[in-house]
Amino acid sequence: MLRNEECWCGSGRKYKKCHLAFDDKLASMKFDFMKGQVRPPKKIIKNAADIEGIRQSGVINDAALDLAGSMVKEGIDTLAINDAVHEFIVSHGAIPACLDYEGYPKSICISLNDVVCHGIPSKKTVLKEGDILNIDITTILNGYYADASRMFIVGKTSPEAERLVQVAKECMEIGIDAVKPWGYVGDIGEAVDKHARANGCSVVTELGGHGVGKSFHEEPFVPHVGKAGTGMLLVPGMVLTVEPMINAGRYKVDVDKKDGWTVRTRDHSLSAQWEKTILITEAGVEIMSS
Ligand code: MF3
Ligand code: CO
Ligand code: CO
Repeated sequence: MLRNEECWCGSGRKYKKCHLAFDDKLASMKFDFMKGQVRPPKKIIKNAADIEGIRQSGVINDAALDLAGSMVKEGIDTLAINDAVHEFIVSHGAIPACLDYEGYPKSICISLNDVVCHGIPSKKTVLKEGDILNIDITTILNGYYADASRMFIVGKTSPEAERLVQVAKECMEIGIDAVKPWGYVGDIGEAVDKHARANGCSVVTELGGHGVGKSFHEEPFVPHVGKAGTGMLLVPGMVLTVEPMINAGRYKVDVDKKDGWTVRTRDHSLSAQWEKTILITEAGVEIMSS
């Protein structure tokens, strides 16, 4: 690419004023394939317009999570929360990404107690005192995706459940703190897994975070276990989720055979998850949805 040509990122700026220095730095990096170090593909690097689009989608997504959270109380069914959030997102000119995603039947995911993720909202699932639940919402605005989830507690729960919710939150925060420009995806998993183990919890390995932005699930896969300095290089302009699923018992999970979606802990121990969409910047990290 010539110095005065338009940059490959689509910014419309001259290459020399845009990603030339970035490309030079990337070209100078030595990738150790034995450690599974991987060069990030150009197609997942966002330009300024993409980033603004994801940021705006995140504003609606965060407000949708606020609304969902405000509805959490004993006696409400999870379909009522789904329907209110659907209405909210659509009324803001956006689309709930989960609806019809690979056949998923509802607009958001609500996962109670031993449900790890992808719980399907239902009239039959009524919140009761002591339940812990994850509400996971993804919004598409002007083609840009923002994905985040939070935990909620119905009334008062057991000290063990409360602690699990707290440890899972810390795991997400520690995972995000491990993200550095020119670091590696594996830095996240090592940090998360260490914290979970130190607290007697386990980390789900079959599902993980993901690149996000122009589609729901992009490269890279973001494991919440692993080894620092391995996996894909993290560079400015990448947008991804950190969303550790933390179990009070063992790490193994099963997908419900009937509905094909609901993921539960195999040992039926409690599970908790928090998720944010983050942008990697030259300086560190910007939260895009939380
Ligand atoms: N929001 C989930 C994630 O964090 C994906 C849900 S897909 C669905 O990646 F189809 F179950 F909604
Ligand atoms: Co996600
Ligand atoms: Co999500």
